[in-house]
Amino acid sequence: MSDKSISEQWNASAGGWAHWAAQAADYLVPATETMLDVAAVGPGARVLDIGCGSGEQTVLAARRAGDAGHVLAIDIAAPMVAAAEKTVAAAGLRNVATRVCAAEALVGTAGPFDAAISRLVLMLIPDPVSAARSVHAVLRPGGRFVALVPGDQAKTGFNAIALDILARHGGKTNWEDKPGSIRSLVDPSRLAAVLRDAGFADVTVMTVPTIQRMPSAGVMTQMIREAFAFYKSLIAALPADRQEAAWVEVEQALRRFEGPDGFAGTSEMNIGVGQKPTG
Ligand SMILES: C[S@@+](CC[C@H](N)C(=O)[O-])C[C@H]1O[C@@H](n2cnc3c(N)ncnc32)[C@H](O)[C@@H]1O
Repeated sequence: MSDKSISEQWNASAGGWAHWAAQAADYLVPATETMLDVAAVGPGARVLDIGCGSGEQTVLAARRAGDAGHVLAIDIAAPMVAAAEKTVAAAGLRNVATRVCAAEALVGTAGPFDAAISRLVLMLIPDPVSAARSVHAVLRPGGRFVALVPGDQAKTGFNAIALDILARHGGKTNWEDKPGSIRSLVDPSRLAAVLRDAGFADVTVMTVPTIQRMPSAGVMTQMIREAFAFYKSLIAALPADRQEAAWVEVEQALRRFEGPDGFAGTSEMNIGVGQKPTG
């Protein structure tokens, strides 16, 4: 998929993403705090947030950086950047700048940064090594790049069930390992290889559990339909009635995760870190 079609996909999903992120992204807060710990984001830090989406992790990073630090939040999709600006303004933060920019095209735009973070982005980029090299170029020596991506349970958990149904309806085969697929970095060794190939040292990957709670499988399905560009892309070529049939099957399948307190879907995230060498 070309850069243009990727940004078009995200432009089209930005409204839905921002709407749902505001009410459903809290499940990612513990993993995000771990990402920020590993990136050593603290008072005074100059932080780059890559693929900021509607800015939920931008706010967490900016609060840590404080008045003496700052965050530059970038995203390939202009409507996402606009949504992040709203989120940041609503949080009353003044230490955040934004820019519409691809992760692969950072060189010469800004920096140096003490830390770079990216939450749920690197696996979606068709050439993640080129993106990580571009991040490497704008970090200071000793600065860290931390990338959070879906982990192995993306192959078995509720996400996997939804993805497999959509792929089957869309007639997609062998899509999982393709560059830019949402599952392309579920194997921790692949995430580590991306960081090493981009020039990072002391590379490690940890895996953390997550649990997504929603009122029902129906609401969960609605969120996927409105906000998850990669999922939607699997059936985008189908006529409307066949897309609808796929979503009905997704909702039925996700009901197995419903209990007395609503929908609860476990999953896990890989958090990969590398340091730009000082020598
Ligand atoms: C799944 S969303 C994650 C958003 C946010 N980081 C979060 O966790 O809530 C992926 C984001 O990455 C952005 N994105 C995709 N490819 C990109 C690229 N090559 N450079 C910069 N941003 C990109 C999309 O526009 C979208 O906002």
